[in-house]
Formats: sequence, C-alpha cells, structure tokens
Amino acid sequence: MLAAALFAVLFALGASAGPDPCVAIAGKKWVSPREARACMFSFPVDPELKANIIQVVNNTLPFHTSVNYQILAPPPFQNDVHEDIAADLARIFQMSYDSDFEFHLDLYRSFRRLNDGHCTVFNFCYDSLYISYLPTPLVLLTASDGSQSVHIAPEAFSVASAEFPDQIEFWQDSLPGNLKGKLASLSGAKVLQINGKDPLIAVNENAVTTGSYQSFGTRQNSFFSSYSRGAKGWAYIMGNFALQIHPLNDFVELTIQRIDNSLPETLSIPYRSRFGSAAKNFTDGESYRENNCVSVAGTNGYDVYDLASVSEHTHAMPPVAYFQQQPLISNQDRRRPINVMLDGTPLSDVELPEESHPTTAALNESYSVAQFYLLPDNITGVLALGSFSAGNFSVFMASLLDGLQELKALGATHLIVDVTNNGGGYICIAHWLHRILIGPKATTEPQAGLDTCTRASTMAQLIVEKINKGADPKELLSYHPSQWKNSSNVPYSVETHWLRPTVDLTINGHQDAFSPRLGAECQPFEMAPPDHGLFAPENIAILSNGRCGSSCSLFSITMSKHEGVKTVVLGGHKDIPQQYCGVVGGQSTHFAEIDTEIKSTHLKTHILAPPDL
Ligand SMILES: *[C@@H]1O[C@H](CO)[C@@H](O)[C@H](O)[C@H]1NC(C)=O
Ligand SMILES: *[C@@H]1O[C@H](CO)[C@@H](O)[C@H](O)[C@H]1NC(C)=O
Ligand SMILES: *[C@@H]1O[C@H](CO)[C@@H](O)[C@H](O)[C@H]1NC(C)=O
Ligand SMILES: *[C@@H]1O[C@H](CO)[C@@H](O)[C@H](O)[C@H]1NC(C)=O
Ligand SMILES: *[C@@H]1O[C@H](CO)[C@@H](O)[C@H](O)[C@H]1NC(C)=O
Ligand SMILES: *[C@@H]1O[C@H](CO)[C@@H](O)[C@H](O)[C@H]1NC(C)=O
Repeated sequence: MLAAALFAVLFALGASAGPDPCVAIAGKKWVSPREARACMFSFPVDPELKANIIQVVNNTLPFHTSVNYQILAPPPFQNDVHEDIAADLARIFQMSYDSDFEFHLDLYRSFRRLNDGHCTVFNFCYDSLYISYLPTPLVLLTASDGSQSVHIAPEAFSVASAEFPDQIEFWQDSLPGNLKGKLASLSGAKVLQINGKDPLIAVNENAVTTGSYQSFGTRQNSFFSSYSRGAKGWAYIMGNFALQIHPLNDFVELTIQRIDNSLPETLSIPYRSRFGSAAKNFTDGESYRENNCVSVAGTNGYDVYDLASVSEHTHAMPPVAYFQQQPLISNQDRRRPINVMLDGTPLSDVELPEESHPTTAALNESYSVAQFYLLPDNITGVLALGSFSAGNFSVFMASLLDGLQELKALGATHLIVDVTNNGGGYICIAHWLHRILIGPKATTEPQAGLDTCTRASTMAQLIVEKINKGADPKELLSYHPSQWKNSSNVPYSVETHWLRPTVDLTINGHQDAFSPRLGAECQPFEMAPPDHGLFAPENIAILSNGRCGSSCSLFSITMSKHEGVKTVVLGGHKDIPQQYCGVVGGQSTHFAEIDTEIKSTHLKTHILAPPDL
C-alpha cells in the first residue's frame, strides 16, 4: 500500500472584460444551467494564471504515489486506469481555450480519468459553484425473477419537495400536458429510455467520466441514489443523474412507464442550478472572481516557524475541507494521519426522508457518524458507519468501543458494519475498529492495518535532508522522521533519512523511487483496547454499495483478507463484478500541506518546488 498525495487546487484573481452575463444571475439562488454557464464561460484565459496552475499541479504530482502506475494499471484494472497525467498536462499547456472554465474542465476531466479519489484537481471558481439538480433521482431495482430495471426512486418526490420547496413548482409547471402538476406520480416509474437510449448507456457514460473509483461497477453505482450517515443525521445521496457539479446539461428526456399506467410516456425535465452552499455572493463577473476564484488562507501552505503565518492559518478552515468526503474536523485533529476521498460534490446536504430512516432507535452510545442498532432478532447488531472521521477523535474512538460493548451486553452475537458511501477518514480509527473487533493477534498487533511506503521524489528527499539538519526542531512536519516507524516498528531518529536507501523501480517505462517499507502508525492507541475480540470474524459482515474508499477500504480489505470477514455489496448491475475495495492508500495529503513542508524547510525557491497559487 502506498501513501498518496492529493491536490486541491484553487486559483488567483483574473480580470474580465466585455458584456457581463454574471450580472443576470447575481444574488439568485436558483438559475437555469444555461444562465450559469454563460457567466462561467465568460472569463477569458489568463495565460499567466494558466501557466501557474499547471506548474503547481505538475510540481505537486511527484508527491503522489501512483501516477506512473496509472499510465497502465496492473490487472484487473488495466481497462479502467490508463491515463498518463503528465502527458495530459503537457497537452493542456500547449492547448488554447476559449475560456478559463473550458481550460479548467479539461484539467478536471483529465484527472477524473485517473479514477483515483486521491489524485484530483478542484477549483472553487467552478466546481459545485452551481450544482444542477433534477427532482427525479434514479435507482436500479431487481425483480424477484432477477431481471433489473432503472426506476425513478420511489422516494423521489418526497426528497425533492422537502429539499427544494422553492423550486418544486417550477418542475411541476414544466411537465407536459396532463402530467402538469403531477410530479409526484413519476415516483417509482420504470425508466425505459434516457435521451432516447437504453438507460444503461447513460449509466455507463457516467461511469467513464465520474472518476474516484477504479472499479467500473462502483462508478456505475454513482449514477443512482443512495444514503449516507452524516455527523448530524441521515443524508440522501442524489446520484450523478440527479446532481451534477457543473451546469452543463439543460434537460433530460425520459421515456417512462408510470406505476399503474400501461403506456410509455416521453417527457423532458429541466435541470435547475442552485448556487453552491460554499459559494460566495457576487454582483458581477469581477466580484464573482474576486470572491470565489482567488487564493485564500489555506489555499497555499505556510511556514510553521513563522509566527505571523501561523496565526493566519491555524484558525482558517482549509478550503480543501469542502471537498473532503468526511465531516468537518477540528484543526487540532487535522494533524492526525488521514486518508480520505475527495469529490467535486460536497458531502450531501440533502436530507434522507423520514420514511427511509432506520425503524429502531439507535443506542445511546451512538456518536455522530457511528450509529448502533440491535435488530429485532436480538442477536444481530448493526454499526452504521458513514465515515472514519468525526468531530472529536477521542470521543469517536470511545464511542465505537462503548457501542459495540453495549450491543454485546444486549445479547448481540452477530454484527453488520454498514459502510455505504464511507469516504474514509482517520487511519487510526480504521485500525482501532479492526483491533477491537478482532482482538490481539499477529494481524492486529502492533498494527491492525497494512505496511506502507511513500514516494521518494527529489523534493521529498530534500525536505527530509533539511529536517535531518535541524529544520524542524518541534517535530511539526509530516516528513519528520519521528512521524514514521521502520518495518520493525521502531521509530526513526531525527538524523535518519527515512526515505533512503530508496527502492528504485521502473514503472511503465518511467524511473521511480520509493521509501523503504514503513511500519505501524497508530499503536499504542490513546485508550486501551480490550483483551479479547468483541465479535467472532465469521459473525461479522461488512456491507456497502461498493463506495467505501480510503481508510474505509483499508478497514474492509484487512478485515476480509486477514480475518476472513464477509464483505457484501448491495445493488449494482448483475453482469458487472461488484468490488468492496474502493481506493486504498496510506496517508493522503494535498497541495497546501506539501507546500507547508516546503516552506517550513526553506525550499520554496528550489526549481522543483511548486509556486504559490
Ligand atoms: C448571499 O445572498 C443571499 C441571497 O441574497 C443572502 O441570503 C445571504 O445572506 C448572502 N450571504 C452573504 C454572506 O452575504
Ligand atoms: C512537469 O515537470 C517536469 C519535471 O520538471 C518537466 O519535465 C515537464 O516539462 C513539466 N511539464 C509541464 C507541462 O510543465
Ligand atoms: C438513552 O437516553 C435516553 C435520553 O437520555 C434515556 O431516556 C434512556 O433511558 C437511555 N437509554 C438507556 C438504555 O440508557
Ligand atoms: C427481542 O427482545 C424484545 C425485548 O426483550 C422482545 O420483546 C422480543 O420478543 C425479542 N425478539 C425475539 C425475536 O426474541
Ligand atoms: C474532544 O473531547 C474531549 C472530551 O470531551 C475534550 O477533552 C477534547 O478537548 C475534545 N477535542 C477536540 C479537538 O475538540
Ligand atoms: C528498525 O530500527 C531498529 C533500530 O535502529 C533496527 O534495529 C532495525 O533493524 C530496523 N529495522 C529494519 C527493518 O530496518
């Protein structure tokens, strides 16, 4: 398993000129996709900013572990991952674009084709600035004879009317003929065609572009609606059909067969674009860019030994947090090893309708993203775990132990861990849950996880050299030797160059270098784990829709491969293998954090250092 780097890239202010379509949408919560597009496409490319973004991305990539592997992934993912991102950057650098948004879309889509939730580029200027919705999320249903068909979700109207009370009339009025005002009657309808074609064609087209997961089946599943357990409650995931992060589609044409109707009907439903929940108000094109497109505290890194920069940065929520698929965590806890997916869609703020909530009450030991239930058979416990991060690390850790112990006290002998749409989080919570479920044994002590290594690029090696010579006396940096242990689980001393001797490899024809194998990251834990496993491995099942990534896949894979725990993927197309593994990796990071390492070790002027955005 390899430590991965990821980038959230935001960028600096550019001037705009000419007629201003942004004025028409300023201050409106809902607009048509066409209006939003007109504004977003109105900014010309600023050659200097374009070069700056490409240089930042290009010089940050050597910190990401997988780029050479992604040129052609080893089986079974060779058909899914075959993108040479360095070649993409060279192409994009040469290319001229009619607008800055077009440049961004090319960059964004190139990274999405890596199908890697850790190697991505996001830009606050465009991504989720206007999110486009349909009131008709879709589901893939399987009949008792095994046949599958796409349907408008039975709960569609209940979700849309609760979440979009200020738009539902618009959609009601947009329906043709005798369907006008009868949006509710579409819920549950069988979808025969999407834009005149078999629905599976639209599902697969989305799977090719949506990114984040290597597995094709998992990317297919992103088209459909689903649920997740958030910090504050149950969230509804609209799916990529009914929620798009760019306002690029105006409407969809559906041929459907409504419940209790024998005849197919064809209708078109308009997308509506809602101003993003993290977007900043504007009055015209210039203020749009000033408020949404400039770098802010946290976009770039800072020198942790420079008091003025420290005070500016420690209280700011880093912009990347908006795209991390985990609840907001405290700045204090941000220093813990984290492995989390990033996505252009912020963690959904659409609520799961009441009728879809669990019907039994959660145990009192539940906390935030971790909810415990005892099923009516009185022997099966359920841990619904929406993330491996929660607001307070220590409280979260304790609640996992308390909740599982309470389930046992109530008589549970079997456990289902539901990690549907769990995008990862704290690596040491994944190790902790594994360790307390299974108990002490060779696969859980001193590490209930996987050995790892990290990429040892020239810049990374220089950072460690500087630290060896005393550049980080307070041990604040991620590259400090004291943050790591060798494969015998002995911490490195400050003078050890822990990336050396490098393991030199040729990957897809490219020279590459990695650190030696690294050991445990998490133990000893800050609270004592019990002496015995809480559940027998054969009585545990890990359940998801395949969308379990980063620390979540670290947990699922080790539980399955080391402990023989069952994994179950619900949903998915029956002809496509369903994977439970998501995107693994070790610690994941992003441009600002890497820049902090570089600035704090005074390497910013090095030719390989990424400039500031
Ligand atoms: C942005 O505009 C909306 C709608 O006009 C308003 O409700 C909101 O308070 C404004 N937000 C800020 C931060 O000014
Ligand atoms: C990216 O960096 C490499 C190594 O410094 C360099 O050879 C290449 O030309 C750069 N690519 C772009 C598009 O700037
Ligand atoms: C759970 O908490 C509620 C509210 O504080 C309390 O009424 C109830 O007795 C508690 N249940 C148990 C089993 O302790
Ligand atoms: C489960 O426990 C409850 C409360 O003790 C009891 O009413 C119920 O009958 C039990 N169910 C089964 C299947 O044993
Ligand atoms: C987490 O909660 C504990 C116990 O309530 C508290 O002492 C600690 O300061 C909290 N940590 C954070 C980061 O809020
Ligand atoms: C780890 O470090 C210890 C202490 O320096 C050393 O004895 C041990 O051989 C090292 N293990 C490996 C695999 O290098």
